[in-house]
Amino acid sequence: MPVIAFANPKGGAGKTTAALLLSSELAARGARVIIIDADPERWISQWGGLPGKPDNVEIIGDVTEDGIVDVIEEAAARTQFVIIDLEGTASLMVANAIGMSDMVVIPTQGGSMDAKGAAKMIRLIHNQERMVRRPIPHGVLMTRTSAAFASRALKNVRAQLDKAGIAVFTTPIVERAAYRDIFDYGGLLRDLPSAQVSNLENAGKNAGAFMNEVLSKLKDTMRGAA
Ligand SMILES: Nc1ncnc2c1ncn2[C@@H]1O[C@H](COP(=O)(O)OP(=O)(O)OP(=O)(O)O)[C@@H](O)[C@H]1O
Ligand SMILES: [Mg+2]
Repeated sequence: MPVIAFANPKGGAGKTTAALLLSSELAARGARVIIIDADPERWISQWGGLPGKPDNVEIIGDVTEDGIVDVIEEAAARTQFVIIDLEGTASLMVANAIGMSDMVVIPTQGGSMDAKGAAKMIRLIHNQERMVRRPIPHGVLMTRTSAAFASRALKNVRAQLDKAGIAVFTTPIVERAAYRDIFDYGGLLRDLPSAQVSNLENAGKNAGAFMNEVLSKLKDTMRGAA
């Protein structure tokens, strides 16, 4: 049921990667997932064409600005999780998808261009909230952080965002080879060949922690709405 969109108008912020990681973790636990691939590069559709995609993951590509609302509604009615990988612009398609979402994840790398993209996305979310007359839970997801140097710089960014009243996921997505390799090998993160992919165990733990945080935020929202 829940619809989770990944959005940041800044290109290369880590939307596609984080969307596939969440999908992979949910699918590994047996959930039925539909990924709506609205990224013009179609990375997730290409991933789906490789061997190893489990049957509980379905990918819908070829969505249009006009059609995306119908596609999301139809997908949400027949699966447990709908994950939307959006394009790196602030288009009507993005706005439509946001208006249909139960949660928006805003992947953001440390730099100021990404942060400006995130700020633009948050303004767009606030506008959509007014149009659809309900809150749209959202949070910034720090991406491509350094495993070695997770602590202070990250804490500073988080403190700044907190101060501005912007929700930030506690779990950052660390820079990991496994998160690139999954697009080459296909299949789920945990099925990658551990002999060839470095640090797969930590990559799995990080992606799992992100999934748990998404699930607990969704639960909080549902509790709030009840
Ligand atoms: N956590 C990560 N670890 C390693 N590489 C990463 C990570 N996140 C993203 N990348 C790499 O950074 C690049 C951009 O990431 P990605 O395609 O996920 O961003 P995007 O926001 O979807 O981009 P676009 O706006 O073009 O759709 C890719 O080459 C991807 O492999
Ligand atoms: Mg992308």
